[in-house]
Amino acid sequence: MDAPKTLLIVYHSLTGGTRQMAEAARAGAATEDGVAVRLLHAFAAGPQDVLAADGYLFATPENLAAISGPLKDFFDRTYYAALDQLNGRPYASLICAGSDGSNAARQIARIATGWRLKAVAEPLIVCTHAQTPEAILAAKQISAEALERCRTVGEALAAGLALGVF
Ligand SMILES: Cc1cc2nc3c(=O)[nH]c(=O)nc-3n(C[C@H](O)[C@H](O)[C@H](O)COP(=O)(O)O)c2cc1C
Repeated sequence: MDAPKTLLIVYHSLTGGTRQMAEAARAGAATEDGVAVRLLHAFAAGPQDVLAADGYLFATPENLAAISGPLKDFFDRTYYAALDQLNGRPYASLICAGSDGSNAARQIARIATGWRLKAVAEPLIVCTHAQTPEAILAAKQISAEALERCRTVGEALAAGLALGVF
């Protein structure tokens, strides 16, 4: 039997939207036998967590047209420690945005290219349509339909890892 695979989900969330998306992805991934799923806040994840995983899901809000500070901090702390040791491993990304999200997705893709990771899904961007400062700072409730899409991404990543198809 092959050794069990590990899916690492690293997330940050200011107002709860990304956290719900990451938790939905974890629930989807957890339905796959033979894959250990680790959901870590960006501040709790370090190089050893990255090196020990077989696949990745990066989840972030788009803040100021960028990945959020804590996710950037995670990449800053882990990038060179893991460089050249992750080549070919699969990843996907989840972005929670007010109305855009494309720049955060691009940034993750660029970092993942440096790590020689393999994108196995398009970035999943969920827009909360918060426009005013009050709405932007309010706690978010992600729709069941969007959470189902996050769940599917987690399930597909885990299934691919379990089957060794990536
Ligand atoms: C400081 C700040 C900057 C933001 N900048 C953007 C942005 O550039 N593009 C965008 O689509 N949404 C932007 N938003 C909206 C957030 O992406 C949106 O509220 C999202 O739901 C946050 O995810 P979270 O609930 O996981 O924190 C910004 C929010 C904050 C607080």
